[in-house]
Amino acid sequence: MNLTTRYLGFQLRNPLIASASPLNGELGTLRALEDHGAAAVVLPSLFEEQLRAERDAYERATNLPASGCAEAQTYFPVHGRPDDGTERYLRMLQRAKKALGIPVIASLNCVRTACWRECALQLEQAGADALELNLGATPADPERTGLEVEQSCLQALATVRAAVRLPLAVKIGPYFSSLGALARALCAAGADGLVLFNRFYQPDIDIRSLRLSLEIELSSPWEARLPLQWISLLHGRVSAALAASTGVHGPEDVYKFLLAGADVVMSTSALLRHGAQYMRELLVGLERLLAARGLDSLDAVRGRMSEQQLRGHGETPRANYMHMLQGTPLMPGG
Ligand SMILES: Cc1cc2nc3c(=O)[nH]c(=O)nc-3n(C[C@H](O)[C@H](O)[C@H](O)COP(=O)(O)O)c2cc1C
Repeated sequence: MNLTTRYLGFQLRNPLIASASPLNGELGTLRALEDHGAAAVVLPSLFEEQLRAERDAYERATNLPASGCAEAQTYFPVHGRPDDGTERYLRMLQRAKKALGIPVIASLNCVRTACWRECALQLEQAGADALELNLGATPADPERTGLEVEQSCLQALATVRAAVRLPLAVKIGPYFSSLGALARALCAAGADGLVLFNRFYQPDIDIRSLRLSLEIELSSPWEARLPLQWISLLHGRVSAALAASTGVHGPEDVYKFLLAGADVVMSTSALLRHGAQYMRELLVGLERLLAARGLDSLDAVRGRMSEQQLRGHGETPRANYMHMLQGTPLMPGG
């Protein structure tokens, strides 16, 4: 069976990718993911705050003022530097590249333009095969318009695009006023892949301690519906490859995303729950689903249930929405 697919310029052996999480920060797990069939891995994100913490600690250690010290810092012995996140991240990336035969995608989440550029360059130099730019920050400032938020996403991408030659994927959330238009603008600004979607985590309130509770809930299969709809809507309408992320818990979810039009399908929560070996179950399950339907390649599947295909049968998003609302059976006693 031919499961090969293309993503970010790579010919992948199958469409399954382990998406960014701390699980992928361990070399042993990365090896296990490859052994169990992952076609590529995304490392956990390198955050701008890690770089800043490194700088702050270094400045404290050397008693140098915060600005204008770049040259002077080179006079200090390197062994005095704190072992911060950025250095550790770059070492992990280098080790992963040496150990794995599949593409290693580094993930970056910054705020300031200078940091996007600097970190992207460092990741390219450390040997990343591609970069995934995580553009997920909650637009909490009520002074900033939607247009400004979108422009800052495009600006971040354009900055990285101008700095490195690596293939670039952009991981975004669903909360934009016109996602299709933004997706096209991201493609025009140089995105080779769109990862739909980033999953945002909202704190809860602990009513006993009156503190915020910052625990993460892993995703549920029903959360796949939102990216499923958007992949279906964007398939065939944007130049970038489409990566599905959120709610992939079993082989059926992988199959559905391919039907909607995904080029690759990513999973995190299921791997965190069941371990790296679960990648094999997703893969074998997908092969079984395809074989049972007499399908022998992804080309026979991809986009078969995309919006463009369904539109011919009168299945517009509005018609489906009305049908779902009006077709819901009344609950007993309702
Ligand atoms: C514990 C945890 C850590 C994560 N860390 C990152 C990260 O560093 N960067 C990132 O882009 N996404 C991160 N994610 C999001 C996942 O990559 C993924 O997009 C999200 O969990 C939805 O996929 P899922 O339903 O398969 O879990 C993290 C998710 C979890 C659960």
